[in-house]
Amino acid sequence: MEKRMDSAELGARLELATTLARQGGQCARTFFRDDRLDIRLKGPSDPVTAADLAVDRLIRAGIRKTFARDGILSEETGGDTADILWVIDPIDGTQNFSRGIARFAVSIAVCEAGKPVCGVVYDPIAEELFCARLGGGAFLNDVAVRTSAATTPQDALVEAGYSAKFGHGSYHAMTGRLLEAGFGVRQVGSAALGLAEVACGRIDGYCESHLESWDVAAASLLVSEAGGTISDFFGGDGLHRGGPIVAAASGLWERLSAAAELPRQAGAA
Ligand code: IPD
Ligand code: CA
Ligand code: CA
Repeated sequence: MEKRMDSAELGARLELATTLARQGGQCARTFFRDDRLDIRLKGPSDPVTAADLAVDRLIRAGIRKTFARDGILSEETGGDTADILWVIDPIDGTQNFSRGIARFAVSIAVCEAGKPVCGVVYDPIAEELFCARLGGGAFLNDVAVRTSAATTPQDALVEAGYSAKFGHGSYHAMTGRLLEAGFGVRQVGSAALGLAEVACGRIDGYCESHLESWDVAAASLLVSEAGGTISDFFGGDGLHRGGPIVAAASGLWERLSAAAELPRQAGAA
């Protein structure tokens, strides 16, 4: 069996993830609302810009310099499987970013043995840095955060992310069920920030029929470390194949999960 990271080794990686998320965010900012963006479509409603690639390069180079033996998996440049694996979304919310809408974030997590052990989500426009490490709590700009106290749909505002993989029919049906159950529903285009907002109690839940590991690796740890409940994305092969997500304040999770009717996964991560 592989030797597990000790506290200092994990702390060093969280420190680097924090530095690189800030640097990546500053890099993204230099392209924001700028005509050097060079927007291309990878698929329907799935743009990539020069900024996504520049942030990816910056983060990869930073990891390689200090932790050359760790693996890296990134949305834009793919990657490895490794026992210690950095999972990167250089810009989560690229649709927003490419349209000059100030709602996007850099997401960097470190997974060990297939599960996130620390992670950072940085919103460079609001200058908000969310971070968590396994067993160590979740923080927003160094202040500890908790999920909300909501227990009923009528008191709850949730985000229902749209996954192109399942298309508009299933999205329409899911949001219909959520509204019928009494949830307030929104969709604002960054899964990482939506989950971070669950962690700090600004919203009460997040669900989406399919996300990839780079969308959720850092933010799922934020939710669980902030006292919330999240479906067990990394219990199966979520790291490499993706899967559905339901995350919420613990008192609300069962009701959100029942209304979302996504393929049910075992309780909290
Ligand atoms: C997307 C965003 C969006 C979510 C999509 C993701 P991207 O990531 O997180 O909110 O609904 O499923 O693919 O493409 O902006 O990195
Ligand atoms: Ca993403
Ligand atoms: Ca992305």
